[in-house]
Amino acid sequence: MYESKQAVFNSPFQNAADLSGVAGEFRCYSLPRPPIPGESPGILQGSAGEAGFMLPQVIVPPPGPKSKRLAETLARYENRNVTLLTDDFPVFWERGTGVNVWDADGNRYLDLTAGFAVADHGHACPEIIQAAQGQAQRLYHAMGDVHPTAVKAELCQKLSQLTFERWRLGLGKVTLTNSGFEAVEVALKTSLLHSGKPGVIAFTGAYHGLGYGVLDAIGIAWFREPFREHLREFTARVPYPNCFRCPFGRAEGHRLEGSQFPNCATSCLQQIEEQIVKIIRQRPVGCILVEPCQGRGGEIIPPLDFLRLLRHLCDTYKILLVFDEIYTGFNRTGALFAADRFQTYPDLICVGKGLTTGFPLSACIGRAEIMEAWPKSAGEALHTSTFLGNPVGCAMALASIALHLVPELPRRVRELGRYFLERLRGLESPAIGHARGLGLMLGLELIQNDGSPHPSLAGQIVMRAMRDGVLLLGGGPAGNVLSFTPPFTIAQQEIDFVCERLQAYLRFGSVS
Ligand SMILES: Cc1ncc(COP(=O)(O)O)c(C=O)c1O
Repeated sequence: MYESKQAVFNSPFQNAADLSGVAGEFRCYSLPRPPIPGESPGILQGSAGEAGFMLPQVIVPPPGPKSKRLAETLARYENRNVTLLTDDFPVFWERGTGVNVWDADGNRYLDLTAGFAVADHGHACPEIIQAAQGQAQRLYHAMGDVHPTAVKAELCQKLSQLTFERWRLGLGKVTLTNSGFEAVEVALKTSLLHSGKPGVIAFTGAYHGLGYGVLDAIGIAWFREPFREHLREFTARVPYPNCFRCPFGRAEGHRLEGSQFPNCATSCLQQIEEQIVKIIRQRPVGCILVEPCQGRGGEIIPPLDFLRLLRHLCDTYKILLVFDEIYTGFNRTGALFAADRFQTYPDLICVGKGLTTGFPLSACIGRAEIMEAWPKSAGEALHTSTFLGNPVGCAMALASIALHLVPELPRRVRELGRYFLERLRGLESPAIGHARGLGLMLGLELIQNDGSPHPSLAGQIVMRAMRDGVLLLGGGPAGNVLSFTPPFTIAQQEIDFVCERLQAYLRFGSVS
């Protein structure tokens, strides 16, 4: 029987940073920005690029005429449910480098989203381009589950080494997939095959993608609503421990602002434990599916012992622990995986996004004994797809992983993240409810006078920031959390610029 090998639990928040020298310290990882022909200096700086950062340059009020024309085409031909198209939104991206993207009208932006937390090493990262180009020239498509490529084998080996082998839990076995939700669907299928139990315990506010299977497991009801009647209900949902909006109505933790440790964490976890145990006793549960920190749910960092509690419950009741690290994985929280940050290890882990820095490739990796639940292929795979293990994606993933393993990188993410969070905490506004995050996964929760969510203000700030050349996203179930997941190449000066703009928008709790 599997014995969990927990290391001594250390606080992920220890070693508070001395922030002096943050900018200068990381040149070794700073990727050189390719010179941009005809580029003029940024509005607030001397020579663009030389200083290692490039502030926005808005030359046409966004969205400019080219973006607007492209929006007309999209309005005519794309499913109207996909892209929000209004007179003021969006801008069409044309090219990018590092933290900057340019739109079709030539405006230069700071991308504080990394394109949904994907472009970890920056846009147009030279190493990733080289890997993609080299592979595309040799072979850009193979037969993933029939005649595969060497890069696919290499990537599977690498993913095993980075996860279960590194955690000393034996080999990891990999299913490569094309998007995040598909990786989670593989995890759910694995859980059923392994245990024969269809039940899944998942969490309120959780986001695992929008496939027809995984839809039942997400914790944002809106996505499920039109399809709900026809979904198979295999998920039992338990509150995710959100210390700012405590699902159990406790307030003590909030009184301890300034401390990372809510004093009510224990009783919160007790209640979560009770709920989980009750569910396990009532129905056949195969796995607990959890984001170690919630991303789209509003950049929520759980109390320290939360994941450890889940590990303990899974060991006790012999069910699988699945970490959805599609958002938190690959250094986003300042460690290779959030599992490392919290020193708690799953049985199955799903990764995507920053795995490749910009190719639709994801993976579900499981401990070898568990993955044995899948029958050996006799020529037809139970889970596969045409593009499985696309060689360009695999080559990009290997290049991206090599950069993720640069020793300075996690420290850079932690220290820049701490700096950014301090700046967010220093903003003055009646509309700021909570600034939080881990690594470069940060959120600013906006509230109304009565403490309720303020999604309209978040929306106004996203629009206003775009006009000033800063690209942001709103998140959280109510849409009132500004989320910040920049490329790891972001410079301190770029963080300063963003925070100065935010302060200007937020001073009076409204945006003009
Ligand atoms: C934690 C998590 N899981 C799964 C997904 C779904 O990934 P994809 O959009 O690639 O299907 C996301 C996307 O944001 C995510 O954040």
